Amino acid sequence: MKVVNVVGARPNFMKIAPITREMNKFPEIHSILVHTGQHYDFEMSQSFFQDLDLPKPDFHLDVGSGSHAVQTAKVMMTFEEVLEREKPDLVLVVGDVNSTLACALVAAKLRIPVAHVEAGLRSFDRTMPEEVNRLLTDQLSDLLFVTSPDAVDNLLREGIAREKIHSVGNVMIDSLCLCKEKAVASDVRTRLGLEDGPYVLLTLHRPSNVDDPVILRNILKSIRQISSRARVLFPVHPRTAAQIRSLRDPEFGSNSNGITFTNPLGRIDFLNLLLGASLVMTDSGGIQEETTFLQIPCLTLRDNTERPVTVSSGTNRLVGTNPDKILQAAIEVLSGDWKRGQIPELWDGHAAERIVEILRREFR
Ligand code: UD1
Repeated sequence: MKVVNVVGARPNFMKIAPITREMNKFPEIHSILVHTGQHYDFEMSQSFFQDLDLPKPDFHLDVGSGSHAVQTAKVMMTFEEVLEREKPDLVLVVGDVNSTLACALVAAKLRIPVAHVEAGLRSFDRTMPEEVNRLLTDQLSDLLFVTSPDAVDNLLREGIAREKIHSVGNVMIDSLCLCKEKAVASDVRTRLGLEDGPYVLLTLHRPSNVDDPVILRNILKSIRQISSRARVLFPVHPRTAAQIRSLRDPEFGSNSNGITFTNPLGRIDFLNLLLGASLVMTDSGGIQEETTFLQIPCLTLRDNTERPVTVSSGTNRLVGTNPDKILQAAIEVLSGDWKRGQIPELWDGHAAERIVEILRREFR
């Protein structure tokens, strides 16, 4: 059984690592790794290969940045050549980035079965590029691996056959469990001078938050206010860094008054910081899941989430982008007023085992 596994952007690397690791336990599975090159900076890509012990990709498509159409088209053109050469039995894609949809579409047109890991998540907000990627990838997929019951409901409502859908748990949590020991040993808090007192960990990269200067300014203002109550650590995504620079405001972007800006961090160091944070503020999807699993309070700076189980069961709360609401919620959390939450079913570190078991059964 020859499987082409696809990665492209930062959140893909942690999801694919436990899957390829599990596949490699079975001699009958020939696993090939394709990196589309959607993310290419050392901190956004290679550092994850090191931290996650991922093998060097068998193919690197080197597509880089571009508009949605350009990036997606470049992935499609180069990925088609890989599939024509390798003729795999299955293409496995994860998550919801442009590379996910581009590769699923190429495989479906070549009539190669597609497996989608993290299927069925919906924000019901089609202004998010990821929502379009999610909807279309699921329509093209033959095997849909889901993390939560709401995802099953979404897929059934969209007409996906029940027998294609498999509840397997969450590979993001597998990945966290695999790295936890190394993360605990990281000295990143010493390097950043965070040993004393509580700190808030912030990440921000959604176009809806960072590409609009008014919204970005509002968020940064509320972060400034929060930083008078607790240190704020802000590893800055390249998209966000460019937008902060274009605000041309000396108040934002420099280390002062309790905010520390850093380059994007590797998997191990970031996880160490997550483990010790009093509060996490984010617009990332994966971090909403990780904080729920670790039972750390999370404020999501968005009006919706495609991961509602993190709100209904977990420690996540949607606070949007209104600065007063953000500040109020942060004060509540920092004064100890937050829900502990429950870990969703099957988020136990064994999702990749279930996925590979199902693949072996399907192809036997
Ligand atoms: C992409 C995904 C998003 C995911 C995020 C994680 C899509 C539509 N979006 O968003 O779902 O949550 O990755 O990071 O696929 N850049 C660099 N170096 C890099 C990569 C990007 O400088 O290694 C800069 C470039 O200026 C680029 C911009 O960041 O134009 C945006 O990159 P892109 O891959 O288009 O989207 P992300 O915002 O990273």
